[in-house]
Amino acid sequence: MGMESWRSKFISLRCFIFLSLIATQCFLFVHTRTLGQVDECSALLQFKESFAFKKSVSADPLAYPKVSFWTREGDGNRSNCCSWDGVECDEDFGHVVGLDLRSSCLYGSINSSNTLFLLVHLQRLDLSDNHFNFSQIPSRFGHELSSLTYLNLSYSVFSGQIPSEISKLSKLSTLDMSHNDLKLTKANMRSLVQNLTAIKQLHLSQVEMYSSVPDILVNASSLTSLQLASCGLNGEFPIGIFHLPNLEVLDVEGNSNLTGYFPNFNRSNNLLKKLNVASTNFSGMLPASIGKLHSLNLLDISWCHFYPLVPSSLGNLTQLNYLDMSGFNDVPNNNSTGQLVSEYSLSWIASLTNLYSLSLESTKFRGKFPSFVANLTQLSFLELGDNEITGQIPSWHMNLTQLTTLYLWGNNLQGAIPRSLFQLKNLEFLDLSNNSLSGQVEFDQFSQPQKLKYLRLSYNKLSLQIITNLSATIPQLQYLELISCNLTEFPEFLKYQSKLLYLQLSDNNIHGRIPKWVWNATRETLLTLNLSSNFLTGFDQNPINLPWQNLCSLDLRTNMLQGSLPIPPQSIINYLVSSNNYSGEISPSFCNLNHLHILDLSNNSLSGMLPQCLGNSSALEILMLMNNSFHGSIPQICPVENSLKMVDLSYNQLQGKVPRSMANCTRLEFLNLRNNHMRDIFPSWLGALPALQFLSLRSNGFHGMIGKCVAL
Ligand SMILES: *[C@@H]1O[C@H](CO)[C@@H](O)[C@H](O)[C@H]1NC(C)=O
Ligand SMILES: *[C@@H]1O[C@H](CO)[C@@H](O)[C@H](O)[C@H]1NC(C)=O
Ligand SMILES: *[C@@H]1O[C@H](CO)[C@@H](O)[C@H](O)[C@H]1NC(C)=O
Ligand SMILES: *[C@@H]1O[C@H](CO)[C@@H](O)[C@H](O)[C@H]1NC(C)=O
Ligand SMILES: *[C@@H]1O[C@H](CO)[C@@H](O)[C@H](O)[C@H]1NC(C)=O
Ligand SMILES: *[C@@H]1O[C@H](CO)[C@@H](O)[C@H](O)[C@H]1NC(C)=O
Ligand SMILES: *[C@@H]1O[C@H](CO)[C@@H](O)[C@H](O)[C@H]1NC(C)=O
Ligand SMILES: *[C@@H]1O[C@H](CO)[C@@H](O)[C@H](O)[C@H]1NC(C)=O
Ligand SMILES: *[C@@H]1O[C@H](CO)[C@@H](O)[C@H](O)[C@H]1NC(C)=O
Ligand SMILES: *[C@@H]1O[C@H](CO)[C@@H](O)[C@H](O)[C@H]1NC(C)=O
Ligand SMILES: *[C@@H]1O[C@H](CO)[C@@H](O)[C@H](O)[C@H]1NC(C)=O
Ligand SMILES: *[C@@H]1O[C@H](CO)[C@@H](O)[C@H](O)[C@H]1NC(C)=O
Repeated sequence: MGMESWRSKFISLRCFIFLSLIATQCFLFVHTRTLGQVDECSALLQFKESFAFKKSVSADPLAYPKVSFWTREGDGNRSNCCSWDGVECDEDFGHVVGLDLRSSCLYGSINSSNTLFLLVHLQRLDLSDNHFNFSQIPSRFGHELSSLTYLNLSYSVFSGQIPSEISKLSKLSTLDMSHNDLKLTKANMRSLVQNLTAIKQLHLSQVEMYSSVPDILVNASSLTSLQLASCGLNGEFPIGIFHLPNLEVLDVEGNSNLTGYFPNFNRSNNLLKKLNVASTNFSGMLPASIGKLHSLNLLDISWCHFYPLVPSSLGNLTQLNYLDMSGFNDVPNNNSTGQLVSEYSLSWIASLTNLYSLSLESTKFRGKFPSFVANLTQLSFLELGDNEITGQIPSWHMNLTQLTTLYLWGNNLQGAIPRSLFQLKNLEFLDLSNNSLSGQVEFDQFSQPQKLKYLRLSYNKLSLQIITNLSATIPQLQYLELISCNLTEFPEFLKYQSKLLYLQLSDNNIHGRIPKWVWNATRETLLTLNLSSNFLTGFDQNPINLPWQNLCSLDLRTNMLQGSLPIPPQSIINYLVSSNNYSGEISPSFCNLNHLHILDLSNNSLSGMLPQCLGNSSALEILMLMNNSFHGSIPQICPVENSLKMVDLSYNQLQGKVPRSMANCTRLEFLNLRNNHMRDIFPSWLGALPALQFLSLRSNGFHGMIGKCVAL
């Protein structure tokens, strides 16, 4: 949760694909050379030659292709590979004992013939943050590399079952296979734990297990770090794991079917530093003894089912940097206790002066802006969204000079946005939407937080006042949402927004044309544009093609747009322009949009025949053309494998028969053909469509018998 959550808020995964297409790609293939003698250095060289190097496969910004610099200088210097970047040899015998190739831009497959398995003296192997192209993990890891104490294959695009042979690596103290596309059976997990008696760090986050946590983990007495986030775990979490004497990190976030509860933390020397049970089915009371976890610096108990009575002993956890109690409101069916999360019940938070991240989203917190926040001067991330906070934004927020993220959306805050809010120099993310804030906001105020990239002011009672004489010192926003802000024109500072990915200005009072300066700066960056429910009439200069080259989502519904439909770029996923005055025909170029999911052209003045290729796009899910003046026949919809769920062609002048290809619309749920000029025998065969839930054929020229639903 927490820090990462802004991402999901504004970049859909699909759009991300296009982002990464834009990303720099360095592609450098190394040609193959045959080496004679297989000593460890030539094994390393052959290892190198089995990969391509591609910058974009490693997430670390400092990643570089280490291995590309490996060369053998002169013949016969058998040990010179010990000086290569990432290679470590032992001093006595010159064997390669360590290989640190994390974030090395490696791209390609590893199979059991890889020369890596000739490095039988390896003790430490780190291949994390590379791209092994969905390779299975070869069982030879377990057979050949028996000296390994450290094995890290995380974030490296491996797939398939983790081979049972891994449990032969009985010297392992670290095993990290998290964040791949891997699976592990419960039996293999058990034998891993049973055999790896020295294991300290067991990191298997995102490995699919779909089983309960084996009890035997309770015996892993050396364990310091157990990370099993998002593994599909179920059953009850073995409570004994909390009592492991050396445990410092426990992370089982995102296993929504995992039940469990907290024990009494009675040991005085508990070493626990990170405790994350977010988004699980943990429940019960939080024990007061949780205040004895003096080393704790991360506590995430968000979106669980704990009884929302918070022990004030939490105020003793003064080392805490990160506290997330979001969704902590799921009061069991018993309302005698009344409101459990309030200023009073949370006053202990004021003692946690080392907090840099605090999330109390959706806690049903009611009352004035919580004053305990004023003491948290180290705060960088503050999320108080979706509560019942009333009154004004207090002026002491000024003291929170480290704030980078301030989410106050979905409360009942009133009054003006204090000018001083914009003096928080480090602010990057600001969300004040869905409150009752009022008054004018002058946009020049936003020139202060130079790092601001995410701004939402939607759904308040604000009137944005656009200062026209702006210098270019306005921050470069990536996400801007000003829905229902009483805007009467496009804010002129958009002229300088050359990094904008997301722009939402719907439900304002913007009239006239979309000026060129609005779209000129964002041609290459913009992914999502929503200008719906305004009074727009068109684009300056009437471009035939939409100006944005990477746009995924366009919503121009409910305006007064005229002329012919602007042609979207190949990247488009959603194209919604219903309730305008568009006229003319649908260009056949709409058929070539391979990513198009939603095409909504309803309630316009479009005419002509529908392009016959229109039903060909295999990605199309929703096709809405109702209430136009289309004539001619319906195209061959669903000729091949397709995704169509909803088709509305009603209120047109379409003729002819229901295309028989529609028998292949196996996912179709909604079909509306009413008020057209169809002439056909009653299409009883549509009744055989397995997903169909709504069908309207009225006001057409269908005839014959309403027969049984038999497939064609
Ligand atoms: C293993 O990978 C190499 C390339 O790295 C390839 O030449 C070889 O055919 C593969 N072997 C098997 C059994 O797939
Ligand atoms: C062999 O490697 C060693 C250590 O890197 C170096 O000192 C020596 O000059 C090299 N000899 C040759 C012939 O390259
Ligand atoms: C990755 O795997 C795909 C499919 O198996 C294959 O076509 C492609 O060549 C592989 N890429 C590399 C760099 O090995
Ligand atoms: C446990 O490790 C030993 C080597 O230490 C190995 O012989 C044995 O097969 C392993 N057991 C399992 C279940 O992998
Ligand atoms: C949780 O359990 C339900 C019912 O067994 C199952 O449908 C669902 O997929 C499970 N969810 C996860 C995340 O494992
Ligand atoms: C905090 O710790 C002190 C000393 O360790 C203890 O006396 C006190 O009761 C604790 N406070 C709470 C609220 O648990
Ligand atoms: C909750 O409390 C209110 C007032 O105290 C009462 O009217 C209501 O019936 C209670 N609801 C339940 C489910 O007990
Ligand atoms: C919070 O800050 C106020 C004012 O600075 C101070 O009086 C109070 O003692 C602080 N509370 C805690 C628990 O530190
Ligand atoms: C804010 O900071 C000022 C000056 O540093 C201090 O006087 C004031 O007490 C602080 N306010 C709060 C509520 O902590
Ligand atoms: C919207 O702005 C106009 C002036 O531009 C103003 O007259 C009107 O009161 C504003 N509406 C609201 C709800 O603030
Ligand atoms: C469009 O952008 C270019 C380059 O960013 C700039 O030079 C030009 O003045 C802009 N034109 C308009 C009309 O804003
Ligand atoms: C249904 O699709 C298959 C290919 O997926 C095609 O061969 C067949 O002709 C289609 N049926 C109709 C009625 O178009």
